[in-house]
Amino acid sequence: MKTIKKTSFRGEISVPGDKSISHRGIMFGAISKGTTEITNFLQGADCLSTISCFQKLGISIENKGDKVLVHGKGLHGLAAPTQVLDVGNSGTTARLISGILAGQPFPSALDGDASIRKRPMKRIFTPLSQMGAKFQCWDPDAFSGIASQCPEIGCRLAPGSCTPTGSGCAPFTIQGGGLRHIHYHSPIASAQVKSAVLLAGLYADGVTKVTEPVLSRNHTELMLSGFGAQIHSEGTTASIHPDPKLEAQAIHVPGDISSAAYFIALSLITPGSEILIQNVGTNPTRSGIIQAALSMGGNLTLLNERIVSGEPVADVLVKSSSLHGTVIEGAQIPTLIDEIPIIAIMAAFAEGTTAIKDAQELKVKESDRIAVVTENLTAMGGSITPTDDGMVIEGGSPLHAAHIQTHMDHRIAMSFQIAALNAAGETTFDDKGCAAISYPSFYEDIEKLSQPC
Ligand code: S3P
Repeated sequence: MKTIKKTSFRGEISVPGDKSISHRGIMFGAISKGTTEITNFLQGADCLSTISCFQKLGISIENKGDKVLVHGKGLHGLAAPTQVLDVGNSGTTARLISGILAGQPFPSALDGDASIRKRPMKRIFTPLSQMGAKFQCWDPDAFSGIASQCPEIGCRLAPGSCTPTGSGCAPFTIQGGGLRHIHYHSPIASAQVKSAVLLAGLYADGVTKVTEPVLSRNHTELMLSGFGAQIHSEGTTASIHPDPKLEAQAIHVPGDISSAAYFIALSLITPGSEILIQNVGTNPTRSGIIQAALSMGGNLTLLNERIVSGEPVADVLVKSSSLHGTVIEGAQIPTLIDEIPIIAIMAAFAEGTTAIKDAQELKVKESDRIAVVTENLTAMGGSITPTDDGMVIEGGSPLHAAHIQTHMDHRIAMSFQIAALNAAGETTFDDKGCAAISYPSFYEDIEKLSQPC
């Protein structure tokens, strides 16, 4: 669990498949007719949770490592689960699957780990309830006890066996079916909320629309359209027609720009480094890290730009650079929301001030990322002030070793690993293993690029 300063990092790397796209490939494959073949699927814990949930819904899924085969049963082919759907640490699984379950004529129960049990679900309960689905949250301790004694959903939820709560968090049950179409004006720019409503819209009685304040990632719109859904986007509004014939697809998942972000930062802040990151998804609703790095003076070039499975892809060449501070705010935020912890590290190595605004959503990610980035960067000697909607970082002072508390948040573990590789002394971590949520080979991949002293 220790990390020491390294000299430089050079070479080529391919990061694992995109997490958002991998989840959606399984989900949309499951509700399409025929066998969907997914290559470069992310074998991270979150996407494996999605596979296991759909297996519990009666879908046969073969995970062959290099590819995943989803034997879809069509829009109305899911079976009532006899076990709790365990989403693990994955908010994307919890929220998107709820949209699909809202359309099913059977009850389901959903739970996850300690972090998921704290994450807000009212944001999906609100629109999905307006469409006609019924949600009930349960006391976690009573729920787990009953789940271990009795795997049958009907028995577990027998009257009096559990305490209902108004927590708005997992564990919760969903009774779906008979949905009305709505036009939902979402108060937050969230692809998870948008996707949940659009997926429920597949089962509604008319055209369902979602308008968000700022455009969030659009993988659902792109991929569902490839499967045959009638889905249209205009500005920040997406609309979907119900009851399409969804047909299986072959999907090649691009490398995850959220994982590439760590190598972008590593190469920029470590003197003498040059890394070519191959096959990176560069969808403009996701690629804010590239604009942020450029606006900080980063030497970064996109090569070989192309379209793969409907998504823009490029190779990204990054060379070490003298960075300066920047301001990140407004419509940029959803395009780099998951990259803010690593941008904070870049900012600590940049000259001058970096301000991150309009990012209150950071508080409800796998950890409270405003608080946790502040806690750890301060411990390493960085100058950071948390704000209500982001943080302000004064860069330029050298970082030193500290003990990092990851709060079991994969993006915190990976961001501070990059910081530790550029800090004096020996940094220790409470637990680095949570990187496997989105990037199982993260530490080995860094090692491959490390140059001898
Ligand atoms: C995701 C959307 C984002 C992002 C998450 C993945 C998705 O969450 O932070 O890691 O795949 O739709 P929000 O929708 O809550 O912004």
